Amino acid sequence: MWIQWIVVYCIILTVYGQTISDYKTLIRQLSNNYDNSVRPVVDQSQPVSLSIALDLLAIQEFDEVLEKFSVAAVIYIRWRDPSMKWESSTYNNLHTIMIPKSKVWTPTIIVKNSFDTVKPIGDDWMKIRYYKNGDAVYIAGNVFKTTCAVDVTFYPYDAQTCNITLISWPEIANEITISAYEDNILNSHFSENGEWEVTSTSVTTGTIEKLSTIDFTIKLKRRPIFILVNFLLPVFFIGILNIMSSI
Ligand SMILES: *[C@@H]1O[C@H](CO)[C@@H](O)[C@H](O)[C@H]1NC(C)=O
Repeated sequence: MWIQWIVVYCIILTVYGQTISDYKTLIRQLSNNYDNSVRPVVDQSQPVSLSIALDLLAIQEFDEVLEKFSVAAVIYIRWRDPSMKWESSTYNNLHTIMIPKSKVWTPTIIVKNSFDTVKPIGDDWMKIRYYKNGDAVYIAGNVFKTTCAVDVTFYPYDAQTCNITLISWPEIANEITISAYEDNILNSHFSENGEWEVTSTSVTTGTIEKLSTIDFTIKLKRRPIFILVNFLLPVFFIGILNIMSSI
């Protein structure tokens, strides 16, 4: 998996002796003539291909009445920027740098089924990591609140399916295409939820109105024991107390 690979790569890098001046010179060279409004692809008739992965950390809340599904997750977006390549030997083996997001081209990705305000994921204070071959990695962690239609027919033995749908906007699919980095949602840092069990996940890409999209699908099953302990048992005991106090 490339996320682990990046971590290992960063550790290896620290053994080299780059200086502040190598870093500054490189940033200056790269910024020279860089225009962050231009899509990073040499042949402008071709799309920029983004590869996206979602790492699910926790299910924060699933409100069946409001049909609101909130998850804590990290979204990894990767692409290649041909203007961000360099010869590492010229810069004392400097292999990777970070540049504030506002200074470089970044894709605008929106949570399509957002529960509240629709705004691009990530913030301007975030940084993009570049590798010497031009690979760019953008990591945006947040609590994503989405809408999820609930079917309570089999309550409390119900299973629900929720999507976190990301869409590239306003570039159309001929300009930006999204592919899935993994077939499933990543879960190596996942903390279990007391009420809901994640039974499976999947990732599907497609287009909506010419815009490239990616659906991260989470299948959930309610743990009936949660209902028993939190709702049915208290009612049962209150009932018993009632009976006892009336004897
Ligand atoms: C969730 O995503 C899957 C895969 O793209 C799709 O088949 C399904 O219709 C989506 N569900 C909703 C409610 O949008």
